[in-house]
Amino acid sequence: EKGTYSHFMLKEIDEQPFVMRKIIHEYQTENNELKLDANVRQAMKVCDRIYIIAAGTSYHAGLVGKEFIEKLAHIPVEVHIASEFSYNMPLLSEKPLFIFISQSGETADSRAVLVKIKELGHPALTITNVPGSTLSREADYTLNLYAGPEIAVASTKAYTAQLAVLAILAVDTAKAKGLDLDFDPLQELAIVANAMEVLTDQKEAIEDLVREYLGTTRNAFFIGRSTDYHVCMEGALKLKEISYIQAEGFAGGELKHGTIALIEEGTPVIALASQDNVNYSIRGNVQEVVARGANALVISMKGLEQDTDAFVIPHVHELLTPLVSVVPLQLLAYYAALHRDCDVDKPRNLAKSVTVE
Ligand code: M6R
Repeated sequence: EKGTYSHFMLKEIDEQPFVMRKIIHEYQTENNELKLDANVRQAMKVCDRIYIIAAGTSYHAGLVGKEFIEKLAHIPVEVHIASEFSYNMPLLSEKPLFIFISQSGETADSRAVLVKIKELGHPALTITNVPGSTLSREADYTLNLYAGPEIAVASTKAYTAQLAVLAILAVDTAKAKGLDLDFDPLQELAIVANAMEVLTDQKEAIEDLVREYLGTTRNAFFIGRSTDYHVCMEGALKLKEISYIQAEGFAGGELKHGTIALIEEGTPVIALASQDNVNYSIRGNVQEVVARGANALVISMKGLEQDTDAFVIPHVHELLTPLVSVVPLQLLAYYAALHRDCDVDKPRNLAKSVTVE
């Protein structure tokens, strides 16, 4: 039920802090240790390479999940678009583990890969919001997202839940492998939940930014580096799928290799600056596009901000910035769609779960 909300999407954006707290609760023992299925722990421990398979927003979550697993658990990870996997199947390692990320657990493109790798005899873990779903039943193991039903076609709370569970999985694996870590995911996710609340309380400010930057535009660019780049891809997908503004997420350093030719007077460029190690270089990219007439909207993280930044997100652990920086992008997409009288919850040509290949 939508309750007092005019759209499920806005309700689901607002639910994100609660989903974080639910995940913390579900993945915590009474002694504040991580609580995870022992079989999942073992599968993660013995594999020599992880293949993440997903589509759309879940694929974008996989790109960030790769960073968590590689940085924290030291296991190499490949992330594949489900519908592409079979055409150019990568050479598999000796002990692969497949992780399927799917909100619905019903995405046919992902299921086709699952069927194929089960035929080959490889283990599979599904991370899903729907435990009894096809991908959950047919995989060896399941991790639940606990995000509650996601009704809007545009995925919001499932994305941040996927990131939270992937971070927990990565840390749990690191601990199981005896790696020394200075990162408590449950504590850091609690900080993320509070930061999300600060952001969902700033809807009017975001709506003003939509008026200023996305009012009549037909296209928009999102730029970022490293983790921010992956969040830009998600921000662009959100914007295009519900507001029909042509949008693309680019790696800041790639602009000069072609895309910058598209920048004209007034082109909106949304830049993310949430990472210390790329702050200087993304600022350089912002100057490059501004010099060509772009209308640059910089979203930075507290501590890295500059006076001209349009929006500043609260400070969270640098690994977890995507869970927070995506929230203003979700809200930008929501208000852009609303101002264009688009059907926010049911955008044209799209279905909530894509059960055809
Ligand atoms: O249910 P899934 O997570 O497998 O769905 C994958 C994509 O179809 C989905 O994320 C889609 O991209 C969303 N509409 C994006 O908001």
